[in-house]
Amino acid sequence: MWWRDAVVYQIYPRSFQDADGDGVGDLRGIAERLDYLVWLGVDAFWLSPMYPSPLADFGYDVSDYTAVDPQLGSLDDFDRLVAAAHERGLRVLLDLIPSHTSIEHPWFRENPDWYIWSPVEGPPNNWVSAFDGPAWSRDERSGRWYMHSFYPEQPDLDWRNPEVVEAVQGVVRFWRDRGADGFRLDAIDRLVKDEQLRDDPPAIKPFPLPLHEDAAKLELLHSGNRPEVVAALKAIRQAAGDALLVGEVFRPVSEYPRYLEALDLVFAFEFLFSPWNAERLRAAIEPAAELGRVAWVMSNHDFDRLATRVGPENLRAAALLLLTLPGAAFVYQGDEIGLANGPGGDPPFDRAGRDGMRHPMQWDSGPAGGFTTGKPWLPPVDPQQRSVEAQRNDPGSLLTLYRRLIELRRGLGEGFRLLDAEPGVVAYERGDHVVTVNTTSEPRSRPRGELVLATHNGEGLPAHAGAIVRN
Ligand code: NOJ
Repeated sequence: MWWRDAVVYQIYPRSFQDADGDGVGDLRGIAERLDYLVWLGVDAFWLSPMYPSPLADFGYDVSDYTAVDPQLGSLDDFDRLVAAAHERGLRVLLDLIPSHTSIEHPWFRENPDWYIWSPVEGPPNNWVSAFDGPAWSRDERSGRWYMHSFYPEQPDLDWRNPEVVEAVQGVVRFWRDRGADGFRLDAIDRLVKDEQLRDDPPAIKPFPLPLHEDAAKLELLHSGNRPEVVAALKAIRQAAGDALLVGEVFRPVSEYPRYLEALDLVFAFEFLFSPWNAERLRAAIEPAAELGRVAWVMSNHDFDRLATRVGPENLRAAALLLLTLPGAAFVYQGDEIGLANGPGGDPPFDRAGRDGMRHPMQWDSGPAGGFTTGKPWLPPVDPQQRSVEAQRNDPGSLLTLYRRLIELRRGLGEGFRLLDAEPGVVAYERGDHVVTVNTTSEPRSRPRGELVLATHNGEGLPAHAGAIVRN
């Protein structure tokens, strides 16, 4: 299995590279930058949605699943991108959004029974949207109420309707036939809802992942995370064949086994949200590593960027941690150069406040960071301070460290065991290697052995440093 310890690079297409000067990234731009990904050493890239979308949720509201948003290119551009990626040995993952469509998808009008409607005039239960507020809105045209797990512009599909299952299977086959090597499955814990539309009960204990206020008050028991999801996922698997399926399951790791009956990997979200603190990191790593089939991830287009979350001083150690854990790892574009959150759009584009994590990639120190010759849809954050060009040939840069770690990781060896360590240190064994990460601002000691890689110069394990030694 090619993905077992793969590094997958997440591309946010609108913000990676603009080839036509309209200020928005596109597929041709991505193709121009493939040699960078080869140089970095990643195995695959995941494209956040590039389908036609009215952009209520910036691509996660899809109005046509088998086309490319004209602003981002065409199906021919897609075919050329896949061919160019495959020529270079890179695999391509797409974002599959099977839980909801855009309200502007023709399915919503042509096949209303593919969606979930209230049997009464008004919301039939207490379900809330992940972005807060009721999960039910009134369709002005029909006067009926439909369900949406996210924005009202994103009505949820009814996976209990076999026609929906077939339609989405058709979408999966369409992209498989065009060369997609896998899919990241969006919001997959929301796929199936309770048949009787029962109320979600009040939450009795705090949820381990961040939720909006209303959502945090309820236990996701009937509005999602249903046991019936397994059958639905198996139908997706049937169409996907042996393509890699990575699930976005916004639940604790203890609940992942059900999803892994049909998926290959599930993102390790407790790890993503762990504070930069050895005890909390160990607690997040241990059960996920034991499960063995998680995709390690530290940031994406929805949450604070890694530099913002752990602080720039910890970025080198965080890279070492992410890329030496056992199994597949996902790197969000820009994290490898230490890009932090930006100010976002003014006025904001995303109503849920996520513009700041979606600023353009910084290729060089020019005013638009080499992202576009036009006016970027979101301004670059700090291209004078950080860019691929400035870091590429600097042996001490974060980018060089990412590249070395990606090169090294496959040679670490089999197995994984967390080790006892000094306070503030995460330590583990991989084959005959020992990895240590100092999460504190004080020096710690380095285990004995031949030094393979250190994130910082100096004796022992300096503040904020990580190291790999071989016994
Ligand atoms: C998760 C996606 O990553 C996020 O961007 C989106 O808003 C929701 N799912 C709804 O599709």
